[in-house]
Amino acid sequence: MSAGIYLHIPFCRSRCSYCDFATDVFKSDAVVERYVSALVKEIENFSQTAQSIDTIYFGGGTPSLLAPGQLEKILNSIYKKFPLVENLELTMEMNPATVTPETLNSYKSLGVNRASFGAQTFDDTELKRLGRRHTANDVRETIELLRNAGFDNVSFDLIAGLPRQTLADWERNLDEALELNPEHLSLYLLEIHEGTPLAEQIRSRRQPLPDEDLPGEMYELMLEKTARKGYEQYEISNFSLPGFQSKHNTKYWLCEPVYAFGVSAHSFDGKHRYANERDTAKYVDLIESSSGAEVYREETDLGSEFVFLGLRLSEGIDLGEYEKRFGANLREKYAADLRRLEEFGLIEFAGNNLRLTRKGMVYSNEVFSVFV
Ligand SMILES: C[S@@+](CC[C@H](N)C(=O)[O-])C[C@H]1O[C@@H](n2cnc3c(N)ncnc32)[C@H](O)[C@@H]1O
Ligand code: SF4
Repeated sequence: MSAGIYLHIPFCRSRCSYCDFATDVFKSDAVVERYVSALVKEIENFSQTAQSIDTIYFGGGTPSLLAPGQLEKILNSIYKKFPLVENLELTMEMNPATVTPETLNSYKSLGVNRASFGAQTFDDTELKRLGRRHTANDVRETIELLRNAGFDNVSFDLIAGLPRQTLADWERNLDEALELNPEHLSLYLLEIHEGTPLAEQIRSRRQPLPDEDLPGEMYELMLEKTARKGYEQYEISNFSLPGFQSKHNTKYWLCEPVYAFGVSAHSFDGKHRYANERDTAKYVDLIESSSGAEVYREETDLGSEFVFLGLRLSEGIDLGEYEKRFGANLREKYAADLRRLEEFGLIEFAGNNLRLTRKGMVYSNEVFSVFV
């Protein structure tokens, strides 16, 4: 089995109000340059027996803040270390209004063949309120720039359930998104994370709390509209035209190995999970002053992760594979819980697979809590 590589680029031009990803505000080109050198050193010092690689994913943050020369430096260090398979999927996350025809052409010629960016909403007032630094028109332009540069595997994200958003607003957003014919769409329901400006705005009533029933209705609408346009839902929040599923992200849901580099990056080597230092300045200092990053081994229950990550996929989990990997019969191990979830109409058995129902996808956290 081939593995994936994840590279974390922890810089954003500014922070969006809802986001709790591990990113810092971009300070200067010099800070990014120093970070890139540390990242390259971490890859060069990686000691694991090299496994072949079939996906590389630059995530963030805003990887499109990297100059093409920096991207090349990072890729070269990977190419020296790991054997690659042909037709590698190489994704780069981008922010609208951060790319030009020149940078996109350079990224493309360096092998980037999949682009993924956050659109969030096509409502300019809402974008401003969320702290986004682009307009809806920038989203349309970014797609056009990507197409002109020859990208034929493009994905973008929308968030449903934003404060003040009505069902009709969400419908308009979906229509706008589908009009742009992306190969892939990530449609998330808003999560309110403690400690974010949005959580504070809601607590102090400067923003309304989203309506309780609305997310379920919005979810139903996105399933209907995407299906009508030929998109397949392959994961709770992910939709693609046939053949355009994210190979990289699917590795997480199937608990396949992904080696991750950069601040706060999380790796899985097939047996254990590891987490890097979470603070960017500390991460860079550690790498500069020693031969490796500080890596913490995480105590995890792989059996339960296999279940609650795999259940995110539309096809669910293969019960035979569970038995092979963990030496237990899932139906017997969780007999009472599975019966209860089945009675509530949240899960179903299909052949030798266990999967979420449509209702289970809306209330997935209730299902996952059984296995955590
Ligand atoms: C790393 S960002 C994508 C690339 C880029 N940084 C951008 O924002 O354009 C990952 C995506 O996660 C989603 N996301 C982040 N925080 C979220 C939240 N609190 N609720 C729902 N979706 C969220 C957004 O759709 C965002 O585009
Ligand atoms: S949503 Fe994207 S641009 Fe906004 S803070 Fe999070 S990672 Fe940065």
